[in-house]
Amino acid sequence: MKVEWGEYLSVGVEEIDDQHKLLFEKFNALLAACDSGSSAEEVQRLFSFLATYVVTHFGDEERLMQKIGFPDYPKHRDMHQDFIRQVEALRERLVKEGPTQRLAGSLTLAINGWLIEHISRMDRAVGRFVKEKKVTEAL
Ligand SMILES: [Fe+2]
Repeated sequence: MKVEWGEYLSVGVEEIDDQHKLLFEKFNALLAACDSGSSAEEVQRLFSFLATYVVTHFGDEERLMQKIGFPDYPKHRDMHQDFIRQVEALRERLVKEGPTQRLAGSLTLAINGWLIEHISRMDRAVGRFVKEKKVTEAL
């Protein structure tokens, strides 16, 4: 199932919102490749794009949190690390099982369950903090 970014997911920091939109795009491209029966090689390539981008994006968010002195930073970083572990486990499954429908289902669950929940609760809290502190240059 395709994921769509909506205003309800807006963190209020343009760079972060743009990165979230790009994450969703990469995820949708990966899912479309699974659905259309693309080669295992192509699916792995798209998966790598997504996984690398997740790490880059989390790194940017973590730098922002450190910069603004976000109080919940350690907890937020732990959640990022946990998600990266989930992504790595999925990558191992992809290598072993190939792009099966079952794997596409697990991927969707990770994005729809974890990521959307994370953005709407944790990332939006960072956005509120940025606003309160009146930080002008976010990243
Ligand atoms: Fe985050």
